[in-house]
Amino acid sequence: ADAYSWPGEHHIHIEGALTPELLFQLASSNGVTLPTDDHAFQSVSTLYERYQHFESLDDFLHYYYIGMSVLVTESDFEALAWDYFQHAARDGVVHAEVFFDPQAHLSRGISYETILSGFKTAQTRALEEFGITSELICCFLRHLPVPDSLAAFNIPELQASLTNGSVAGIGLDSSESGFPPLLFKDLYQQAAAFGIRRTAHAGEEGPASYIRDALDTLGVSRVDHGVALVQDRELMARVAEQGTLLTVCPWSNVFLKGVRSVSELPIREFLDAGVQFSINSDDPAYFGNHYILDNFCAVQEAFNLSVDEWRRVCEAGIRGSWCSEQRKAEML
Ligand code: ADE
Ligand code: ZN
Repeated sequence: ADAYSWPGEHHIHIEGALTPELLFQLASSNGVTLPTDDHAFQSVSTLYERYQHFESLDDFLHYYYIGMSVLVTESDFEALAWDYFQHAARDGVVHAEVFFDPQAHLSRGISYETILSGFKTAQTRALEEFGITSELICCFLRHLPVPDSLAAFNIPELQASLTNGSVAGIGLDSSESGFPPLLFKDLYQQAAAFGIRRTAHAGEEGPASYIRDALDTLGVSRVDHGVALVQDRELMARVAEQGTLLTVCPWSNVFLKGVRSVSELPIREFLDAGVQFSINSDDPAYFGNHYILDNFCAVQEAFNLSVDEWRRVCEAGIRGSWCSEQRKAEML
């Protein structure tokens, strides 16, 4: 069909779509106390202002985990996902693959069922009202002790969601430096034994060797961010050859100080080397409210891709999607 009909995304953390507006609203309705010693939490506007000055991934994650502590009930998770789908619809998104971080909610006493049911209701509504298809990807947190991720993976409801198709696969996120992929070898081997699809954040703040380890040790079929790949030309050639999809997040890399501007990203190098990549928003509510279309526009302004190059980007995204072959064929 027509590649212009695609913006699809593969790298959006649903908790990263929590706007300060919804954050304060849910804190109030759930009686959740926000930090009183941090001026940023005084109001919606002071929080937005603070989000303009993240120093690093970890500085952002500090706010990200406080933010999501306001999510308590099933309808909170539904409201969060619905807020995202409305933005996605406005940007012309036809298919979305959405990360979520169950460990960050389970640790606060929220059941997996509460989380998943809220998301499912929003997903069904997005399909009915906007025709947006979507998949969920269950992420594990690399800053927590490894046994915590194994315990979460072995929660019966969580494992069932991964084997019965209601969740499309697993990912690995949170602080990267100092938490190499190798730590999660057992988790990924267990998932592989079930035939579960696997991805991992690698090469966002961490080195190119983390990308190699994610491929070789974790057996991932795609790589989230992966911009450090440009530091290892041999590995880059291999990733191009294998056709592994990188889910690049331009505004995220700028907001978290990986690069000074989108123009510093290795987009041209990836295109020239034949690396497959898609363009994504990561945590739009924290990164200047730049949803997917703003990320496409920033890449176009910085690199002036040809129509044919955009077609390659869009087709790579569709081919790398974790949806049915039938849905892929509709989108291609
Ligand atoms: N969790 C949410 N956003 C993330 C990112 N950009 N990198 C790692 N973990 C994350
Ligand atoms: Zn991410």
